[in-house]
Amino acid sequence: MTSNKQLCIGLSLNATWNKGDGWRRPDSGVEQTGSINYYIHWAKIAENSKLDFLFRADYLYISPQMLGDSSNFGSPDPTLFFAAIACETNRIGLVTTISTTFNPPYVVARQLQSLNWLSQGRAGWNIVTSIEGADNFSDSPMPSPQERYAKAAEFTDVVCKLWESFPNQAIVIDRQSGMFTDKAQVNAIHHSGEFFSVKGPLTLPSHESGRIPLFQAGASDIGRNFASSVADAIFAAMPDLESGVELRNDLRSRAMEHGRDPDAIKVLPGLYFFLADTHEEALELHKASHSHLSLERRLASLQSVMGLDLNDLPMDQRVTAGMLPDANQTVRSRTHAELLRRYIIKYQPTVREILDRPEVVGSAHWVSVGTVETVLNDIIERLEAGAIDGFIALPGGSERSMELFFEELIPELVDRGLFRSEYAGETLRDHLDI
Ligand SMILES: Cc1cc2nc3c(=O)[nH]c(=O)nc-3n(C[C@H](O)[C@H](O)[C@H](O)COP(=O)(O)O)c2cc1C
Repeated sequence: MTSNKQLCIGLSLNATWNKGDGWRRPDSGVEQTGSINYYIHWAKIAENSKLDFLFRADYLYISPQMLGDSSNFGSPDPTLFFAAIACETNRIGLVTTISTTFNPPYVVARQLQSLNWLSQGRAGWNIVTSIEGADNFSDSPMPSPQERYAKAAEFTDVVCKLWESFPNQAIVIDRQSGMFTDKAQVNAIHHSGEFFSVKGPLTLPSHESGRIPLFQAGASDIGRNFASSVADAIFAAMPDLESGVELRNDLRSRAMEHGRDPDAIKVLPGLYFFLADTHEEALELHKASHSHLSLERRLASLQSVMGLDLNDLPMDQRVTAGMLPDANQTVRSRTHAELLRRYIIKYQPTVREILDRPEVVGSAHWVSVGTVETVLNDIIERLEAGAIDGFIALPGGSERSMELFFEELIPELVDRGLFRSEYAGETLRDHLDI
């Protein structure tokens, strides 16, 4: 039992309730989502509820399938976005996503440290290796997952070394002696590795709050190894409780193999919730959010997730392990392909069941649909089963879903002693207790 444990809760500051056909609802607020004021409004509400952090995923390409009938086809640079949010908030953490595949580490170390200064120690970095975008960076075809993770490991090492190259203590500001910076403490890093050569030091000192917390998303075998060696938190795709328990246990034991305390890693799945005042309304919201996905689109999505072609099969036909394509073929995200592969091998589901799976209709996130009580019980069940240390909230369906989350669900968690009622510290490190 882990029920006396406090949850770590982040909010994805994207209009996730506008996914699919959600933006077409009269109350979707979609016209306002181009204005930073809209997000500042929700950021303040999240801070008022003492959430650990705000979060933004980020992709460096436009998905042609989403352009046209979806409002979620792209987004502004999340680090610039959070620089604006930083000025309007005081406590809540700001976790930006930056790819290690297509950026220079010096620039990224500088951007993140800048966000950390602007926010007074509230920046976090979600490290991603990207699933597409090579064509936009003179790097086509897409490097293999092995190469991307090898690069991510070296990239992260360089970024952390650059942060250390100019420690906060080097700033002395001694008017009497005339010493502003203690030069002896500011040192080049002289990094020369497989992918990068970086001399350093960084152009700005580290913030006094300490090393910026690292998040990671990607849970293939190499992804887990990388995450368990460096990350403070994992943004996890966790469609069911079983896969969550397996992932969390595995990450914890890998952390120990890397000589780390298993509690040093927080496993935070995306929680895509559809909250409404009645169960029926919530089910309706959930159904509507996927109604735009025709059979053809679901079949095409399945093909792109794991290369499985079910076009000619009847909907009630069961799919078995023997029908699956080679596990070693190249896919965009092994995390998603492996989740679906394991589900099919275990349950031999029908074609219809597969085409309704979160891995096919969405991003493989944990979906919870119902009233506040339903979603609350779902959270408690996963916490007690040891599947989660918290979650990243992805409100679905409508703005009302988000309102119910803040007005009723969070207070229920506080009443049960599962979430804080006040911030104990001022920085993201304080909130994550690291
Ligand atoms: C839950 C989750 C969220 C992700 N978010 C992003 C993202 O915001 N931007 C991005 O470029 N890649 C994202 N990725 C892709 C990963 O960074 C990684 O490139 C991909 O999953 C391939 O790694 P894998 O083989 O370990 O799955 C995400 C992956 C997962 C599982």
